[in-house]
Amino acid sequence: MNTKEIKIKITEYSATSELPEEDQKLLQQAAKSASRSYAPYSEFHVGAAVLLENGEIICGSNQENAAYPAGLCAERVALFYANSQYPGVKVKALAVTAHADHFIIDKPISPCGTCRQVIAETESRQQRKIKILMQGESGPVNMTEGIENLLPLTFYEEKLKKK
Ligand code: THU
Repeated sequence: MNTKEIKIKITEYSATSELPEEDQKLLQQAAKSASRSYAPYSEFHVGAAVLLENGEIICGSNQENAAYPAGLCAERVALFYANSQYPGVKVKALAVTAHADHFIIDKPISPCGTCRQVIAETESRQQRKIKILMQGESGPVNMTEGIENLLPLTFYEEKLKKK
């Protein structure tokens, strides 16, 4: 038997002002996008902003549905829109933030498992890591370079290939 330990690397910034301007701007865009969410069921408004290599910023917010599983998270709305509008243009960074109707979110939120899998596929396709910025509506910012820090032992498409 062999027990392995897997290390992940997350950088915590205690204030947004500690971040490079480009990252601050991306988080601001994510917050703006959260206010455009459609979240009448969860009352939890998530915003995501994707920075592309060509400088474009694509935003997304969670879009819910009375048939709950039909809704989509902010991160996937943004990533899928980015890839459909700009196929082949690499994603440099993704910022995600949220606010709720009835409580304050003062800790970073992080992407759900399904969104992590979609971020992993994006990285794999573009052969480039994505900087991921995570924040609540206030409080510290978590930053990580690459999905392997949020989704160790990732399932990649090469696993589908017969050897
Ligand atoms: N949600 C996101 O948009 N992104 C996440 O990473 C976590 C969850 C949304 C889905 C749903 O509309 C609401 O937040 C509550 O789960």
